[in-house]
Amino acid sequence: MDNCRCSFCINQDTMQKDLDTFEIPQDIQASSVEETADGLKIRWSGTDGHESFYPWDFLNFYLENDRRQPEAVRLENFGSDGPKSVRLSYEDFYPGHNELRGEEADRVVGRLTGLIARHGLAFIDNVPTSSAEPTQKLLEKIAFIRETHYGGFYDFIPDLAMADTAYTNIALPAHTDNTYFSDPAGLQAFHMLSHTGAPEGSASTVDLGGQSLLVDGFHAAEILRREDAEAFEVLCAVKLPWHASGNRGITIAPHKRYPVLELASEEDGGSGGAGQLHRVRWNTADRGVVPFSGDGDGKTSPEAWYAAARKFDGILRRKDVEYWVQLKPGTLLVFDNWRVLHGRAAFTGVRRMCGGYINRDDYISRWRNTNFSRQEIMDRIVG
Ligand SMILES: [Fe+2]
Ligand SMILES: [Zn+2]
Repeated sequence: MDNCRCSFCINQDTMQKDLDTFEIPQDIQASSVEETADGLKIRWSGTDGHESFYPWDFLNFYLENDRRQPEAVRLENFGSDGPKSVRLSYEDFYPGHNELRGEEADRVVGRLTGLIARHGLAFIDNVPTSSAEPTQKLLEKIAFIRETHYGGFYDFIPDLAMADTAYTNIALPAHTDNTYFSDPAGLQAFHMLSHTGAPEGSASTVDLGGQSLLVDGFHAAEILRREDAEAFEVLCAVKLPWHASGNRGITIAPHKRYPVLELASEEDGGSGGAGQLHRVRWNTADRGVVPFSGDGDGKTSPEAWYAAARKFDGILRRKDVEYWVQLKPGTLLVFDNWRVLHGRAAFTGVRRMCGGYINRDDYISRWRNTNFSRQEIMDRIVG
C-alpha cells in the first residue's frame, strides 16, 4: 500500500507522497485482488477499505526492471577523430536572430543534451564573440550555472588571480575537473572568445598553440579493461583522497574517498546496466596521498594502484585516443565532465575564455525532460 498511486496517497500537483507510511498497519493484508485489463485492483485490510490500482506497466517495470535512471542511452565512444555529427549552430537556438522559447526551444536543447548524453560532448558554432553574454545565455538553456569557490560563469584572461593552473598558459594534461567535490560538475563548457598574439594582434599568421585536448574516459577505461582487467579493477577498487586547497581559507575534499573509475551497479541501471562506466575522476594534480592500507592481499596496495594508474595514463596519452581540436572564437564546447577528460597545449598570446559548470542532476533532468514524454518520466522516475 505504500506504493499506492491514488490521488489520496500521492499529491497530484507535487507528485509527492501524501500518505503517511507509518499510519499503514504493520500487519496489512490484501483483502481482495482483482485483475483487470489495465492492472491490479487491491483492497487493503485494516484500512477503511482503501483501494489501490497498480497499472501493469508500473508492476512490470518495478518487478523486473527496478532502476533509478532507466532511460537507455546507447553510448558511442570516440577516439582521435572525435565524435561524428555533434555540432549545432547558434541559429538553431536563434533562427533569424529570434530566440526560440517554450517547446521549440526544448526541442533544440533536447538535441544538444541528447548528443552530450550519447557522445560525451557537443559543439555550438556561430556563437557571438563580442561579449560573453550569449554564451552564458546558451548554457543557461540547459540549466543554471553552478557556483564554486572559483565563481560561477567566468570570463577571463589568464593571470594567477585564482591559484589554479587552469588560469595560466602552460600545457595541461587530460583531466576531469572537480575531482575534489563529492558531486563533480556534470557538464563543463568553454568558449574561446578571442586569441591574439601579444603584444599587438598578429594572430592570423602565427601558430599561437592552445589546441584543446579531449579524451573519452569511458573509451580509455574500456581499453584498459580489455588489455589488463586486473589494473581496471584496481582503479575501480582503490578509493583516493582528493582536495582543492590552493586558495587561502578554502580546503575542499569529498565527503568520502572516491576511486578513479566508478561503475554502475545492478541498482543504478542506466545505459549499459551493471558494469557500465559511470564516472571517471582523473586529475593527479588534485589527488591526495594514495592510501597505504590495501586490502591485505596486495591487490589494492599502493604499488598496485600506481602500476594501474600508470597504464591508464599511458592509454590516455595514446595518439589514437587523444582527440585534438583547435577551438575558434564562435565555437562553444560543452562536455560531460564525468566522462570526457580535457586538457590543452601550451599557448602564446592572450586568450579570453568564458564558460562554466552545470550540475549533473540538473543536466540529466533537462535531458530527460527534453528527450522523453512526461508520461514516460512519471512512470519511470516517480513510479
Ligand atoms: Fe580543467
Ligand atoms: Zn491510495
